Amino acid sequence: MGQSVTARAHTNIALVKYWGKQNPTLIIPYNSSLSMTLDHFYTDTTVHFSTDLTADQIMFNHQPADAKTAKQMSQFLDLIRQRAHLPLFAAVETMNHVPNAAGLASSASGYAALAAAGARAAGLTLNKRDLSRLARRGSGSATRSIYGGFVEWQRGTNDIDSYAIPVQEFVDWDIQMIAIVLNDRPKSITSRTGMANTVATSPYFSAWVKTAQAMIPEMKAAIVKKDINLVGRLAEQSAMQMHATTLSAVPPFTYFEPETLQAIKVVQTLRQQGVSCYYTMDAGPNVKVICTSRETPQILAALAPYFSPEQLLVAQSGPGVSYR
Ligand code: DP6
Repeated sequence: MGQSVTARAHTNIALVKYWGKQNPTLIIPYNSSLSMTLDHFYTDTTVHFSTDLTADQIMFNHQPADAKTAKQMSQFLDLIRQRAHLPLFAAVETMNHVPNAAGLASSASGYAALAAAGARAAGLTLNKRDLSRLARRGSGSATRSIYGGFVEWQRGTNDIDSYAIPVQEFVDWDIQMIAIVLNDRPKSITSRTGMANTVATSPYFSAWVKTAQAMIPEMKAAIVKKDINLVGRLAEQSAMQMHATTLSAVPPFTYFEPETLQAIKVVQTLRQQGVSCYYTMDAGPNVKVICTSRETPQILAALAPYFSPEQLLVAQSGPGVSYR
């Protein structure tokens, strides 16, 4: 097996959040989710299976991966090896293209790129749906990064029917995100642990699942209408409802930090002044502002007293997985 394959996948930000697994081994979520793939933040991954190796060799930006990440990625490669009946170890070189200290480096682009490069390097021919299912086994959010634009991850109930579908692959209307990078310290509670704790202990979890699931058709309709205000309002609701489940977990926890509230306050104030902008956040303190490119300069100006230009990253919708 000599083929060395490189794939690129972009990260995505969920507008309707995924939070909670019905099956943690297969990564089957409780609720469907819907995201926008971003243009600026992506991962390039090269995989090469070789008879010369006695173990997987996993590099990140030219450095060996830490033990935990290397183990998770090897287990993911096992899925590909089993499927391809390929008893060989792999050399994996991952390059994360995210601006310095973005704190956005994501398992979404990482596992989507690894699935695409790994499968092809192992001689498998997988279509996008198969790739989405495979990427899901690495990280839930990676399921969606196979496609560009707006993407729905249909929750399903098993390994076969839980995958992403494109909702609007080519986004021909004005919507973008400003990522406000508040800090790049490692998360205190990973999304994996956070969602497991929430599922196990939050009395609000069943309400979360019900509301999130009901929001999917509403969000799709808002996208079809190209209605930035409706998309933003729903996305904000989804994010805050997700974060409410962490506050109601036992013991409670939160991803909010003081700077998170500062950023949210700026967005709320702008909105009172008639600017169409909304916020969302994931399993970390960073805030992403959903807005139009027309209003971006005004929003950046309002954020400038609190955050440096390096902390403010503007992204548009981006493409699905590709081979280099
Ligand atoms: C808050 O995909 O990182 O970003 O499946 O355990 O790897 P695992 O979790 P991950 O969780 C993402 C959670 C989220 C919401 C979202 O992206 O939908």
